[in-house]
Amino acid sequence: MERIYVFDTTLRDGEQVPGCQLNTIEKIQIAQALELLGVDIIEAGFPVSSPGDFNSVIEISKAVTWPVICALTRAVEKDIEVAAEALKYAKRKRIHTGIGTSDFHIKHKFNSTREQIIERAVKAVTYARNFVDDVEFYAEDAGRTDNEYLAQVVQAVVNAGATVINIPDTTGYCFPDDYGAKIKYLVDNVNLKSAILATHCHQDLGMATANTISGVINGARQVEVTINGIGERAGNTSLEEVVMALKSHKDRGFDTNINTQHIYSTSRMVSSLMNMPVQPNKAIVGRNAFAHSSGIHQDGVLKNVETYEIIDPKDVGIDDNAIVLTARSGRAALNNHLERLGVKLESLELDKVYQKFLELADQKKSINDDDILMLVGKEGRLSRITIDYLQVVCGIGVRDVASIGLNISGEHFEATATGNGPVDSAIRAVKNIIRREMKIQEFLIQAIDHGSDDIGKVHMQVEYNGNHYYGFSANTDIVAASVEAYIDAVNKFVDN
Ligand code: KIV
Ligand code: ZN
Repeated sequence: MERIYVFDTTLRDGEQVPGCQLNTIEKIQIAQALELLGVDIIEAGFPVSSPGDFNSVIEISKAVTWPVICALTRAVEKDIEVAAEALKYAKRKRIHTGIGTSDFHIKHKFNSTREQIIERAVKAVTYARNFVDDVEFYAEDAGRTDNEYLAQVVQAVVNAGATVINIPDTTGYCFPDDYGAKIKYLVDNVNLKSAILATHCHQDLGMATANTISGVINGARQVEVTINGIGERAGNTSLEEVVMALKSHKDRGFDTNINTQHIYSTSRMVSSLMNMPVQPNKAIVGRNAFAHSSGIHQDGVLKNVETYEIIDPKDVGIDDNAIVLTARSGRAALNNHLERLGVKLESLELDKVYQKFLELADQKKSINDDDILMLVGKEGRLSRITIDYLQVVCGIGVRDVASIGLNISGEHFEATATGNGPVDSAIRAVKNIIRREMKIQEFLIQAIDHGSDDIGKVHMQVEYNGNHYYGFSANTDIVAASVEAYIDAVNKFVDN
């Protein structure tokens, strides 16, 4: 079996999604889940980009033992110095430096020449090698870079000491056969010494997984992926798809270190902490990925599950027989569920989450993994504005009216408003208290599960002063969830 190294960039490329930014504690939680999952390399951030990213790389380096911790830089000395500093506590460390190599990037981004770009690339790798032994080089927009020139760049950085060469299809432009041919061209025309090639594919045309697999078949030995395929625009290659494709086709001779039974819980954790819903039909981790609804399929599956299922859901950690939590479940059962989801809580935190769990269990018959992660996420947020009460009158043949009480920095305010439906009335009431030019740009309500007692998740994007702020909440009452999401967004700019 050929070993394929899994490089997870959920915390760097994935975290660039607007509205999905994580705090350091959440990033540590995800990094520890990735360690449990068995990823080989965790790209923890881009340290020079912000103090928050710098600090996260430091804290993740301390919290994680086995995977290599990687930090991104541009081909700029200052970036490399800052990355090296952020990595100082990592047991195994890597600097990921690089520059655009396509003619688009060379001309329009750098106003430079092909020769100068090679010089800058070599300088960056040489400089990074002063700090760490493991240096990965990325040739940004390699997908649209001429193969002959790309081979010259790759040869130059290998000679300068790069250990891994990343060939990103930055714009998600390539066809699988072209991307595979690119990797093969490099394998055939570069003396890679002991360096390996990495795939890094984007999903703009929906071909990220196909391109990655094509890269592997043609000689790449590292795959760069994110959980749930999250990432800028249409996203990155998803870890679960590549890993399960290689596992399902063992005869092709590729193997990873991923413990696939942790895939589902890691997916739920990332979705929940980033407030980023997973589309129901998403391969491997979507709600419907293993649901058979047509009569013909159900009949076939009942006779022999392999008729229509190529993966056993248990292999990715989906266990329909898992104990369901209800109002009668104890603290230990809750803790057990949390641990299975990769969440470790101190005793006091567990007490608080357990209280919230009991309140929710009073409203909802059975509590699932998403509900539990939502409760953990709600714990410990400090906000300047909180809701004291919300009362709404709505229905058919009545005028919709909402009254709200807000606590703003310890002071109580009240307002009432009428509007077009309960949410509109409640938001108008909020605006009667917080008199700023705020406009809702996006408003999404999504049920987690089934049933009329389900929790509704609300995502809201609010525009204020030309900037966009994201708010999220989840509640069995969707009007309350909507107002909470609105207040969550407002809390992000109200101090400014
Ligand atoms: O897509 C890309 O080119 C990247 C690089 C910075 C590695 O994310
Ligand atoms: Zn990328």
